[in-house]
Amino acid sequence: METATPRDPNRFAQTLFSPLPERYDRLAELLSMGQNGRWRRAMVDHVVPDRPDLVLDVASGPAGVALQLAERGAERVVGIDLTLDMLRQGQRNVAERSLPGRVQLVNGRAERMPFADATFDALTFTYLLRYVDDPQATLDELARVVKPGGAVANMEFLLPQSRFWRFWWFGYTRLLLPVGGWLTGGRAWFEVGRFLGPNISSHYRRYSLEWTVEAWRRAGFVDVGVRRMSLGGGLVMWGRRAGG
Ligand SMILES: C[S@@+](CC[C@H](N)C(=O)[O-])C[C@H]1O[C@@H](n2cnc3c(N)ncnc32)[C@H](O)[C@@H]1O
Repeated sequence: METATPRDPNRFAQTLFSPLPERYDRLAELLSMGQNGRWRRAMVDHVVPDRPDLVLDVASGPAGVALQLAERGAERVVGIDLTLDMLRQGQRNVAERSLPGRVQLVNGRAERMPFADATFDALTFTYLLRYVDDPQATLDELARVVKPGGAVANMEFLLPQSRFWRFWWFGYTRLLLPVGGWLTGGRAWFEVGRFLGPNISSHYRRYSLEWTVEAWRRAGFVDVGVRRMSLGGGLVMWGRRAGG
């Protein structure tokens, strides 16, 4: 499975993620050896200092990012995601915390969101651009709903730059992830583990990090920053909607 270019990316993502929600947060931590949580905190660090009133978290899944945003100072958070099963788990996770009315979850596609222009003070998105047909058009749509001057932050997987770490990354994604997924989560997690490595490689063959930085700028973000994390296997990006 070297290339992963599903014909209908929305349906593909729904099929991939529907069986995962119950154990998503735990296994995402375990299989990333704790790095997912580090990247998430680093991403949220770029948004919460502004004390935003209303934040949109895109590809919110079981709402882990949305909850952290609310717990770290965002007044109200809306999470949007394509996959209903993920959102149902998100609702349960929100209900378990004492944040009455502060986190709301909405079913929808990042490519075309049901929000007016410049609705949100800030926006986060996580593991999204590998699942859309047209990353530039999706970034344009994300920019559309953010107020001028609003902070935007993102986290993603990345390919290590050095040959040495890329060799180990290759072994980790092609062998450890599928096997670890199978052992900890069964068939559905094996499928995700098997999918991820080739998908990340093929995504960056088409859309390099340099391309992505330029795509953010074309979408109307300024002060775009990049931090490679975890030996280059993780990426946190941030910027602001122009204007402000
Ligand atoms: C790897 S999960 C990440 C969940 C969450 N952001 C987190 O880090 O805990 C990716 C999520 O992206 C969602 N997704 C994929 N394509 C999407 C799209 N086009 N629009 C909205 N959500 C999408 C999936 O349904 C899934 O819940």
